[in-house]
Amino acid sequence: MGKLLLLLLLFGAFYLVFIQAKTTVCMVCNNFKRGHCLSGKSNCTTRYSPGCRTRNFFMFLDEGGWVHNHTELDCSNACLAENMYYGRVKISTFCCKGEDFCNRYHGRVVKKNIF
Ligand SMILES: *[C@@H]1O[C@H](CO)[C@@H](O)[C@H](O)[C@H]1NC(C)=O
Ligand SMILES: *[C@@H]1O[C@H](CO)[C@@H](O)[C@H](O)[C@H]1NC(C)=O
Repeated sequence: MGKLLLLLLLFGAFYLVFIQAKTTVCMVCNNFKRGHCLSGKSNCTTRYSPGCRTRNFFMFLDEGGWVHNHTELDCSNACLAENMYYGRVKISTFCCKGEDFCNRYHGRVVKKNIF
C-alpha cells in the first residue's frame, strides 16, 4: 500500500473519531408540551457547543402568576441560558450538548408556576 494512501486513510479515521464524535443530534419542535411534540417535529445536528436549545414560553396571568404556555426545541450556535422578559411573556432558555435529544428533557412539565 502506498504511503500516501495510508496517510489518507489515517486522516479519514481521525476525521470520523474527532470531528464526527463531537456532533449532537437535537430535537426540533415548534410546540412541545408535557413531553410530547404537537407540531413541527424534526431534528438538527450541531457541532458547536452548547448546541441544543430549549425555550420555555410563559405568560403572565393577573390571577395566577407565570403559566407555562409552550416549549420550543431547536439548535443554536449561540445558546445562552437566561430568562428574557417581553412584557407579559417570559422565555426561559436552557442549553445542552453531549447527549442526543438532551434538549427534550428541559421542557417544562408542570402546568403552573406557583411563584
Ligand atoms: C432525523 O430526522 C430525519 C427526517 O427529518 C429522520 O430520517 C432521521 O431518522 C432523524 N434522525 C434521528 C437520529 O432520529
Ligand atoms: C402559546 O402556545 C400556542 C400554541 O400552543 C401558540 O400558538 C401561541 O403563540 C403561544 N403564545 C405565546 C405568547 O407564546
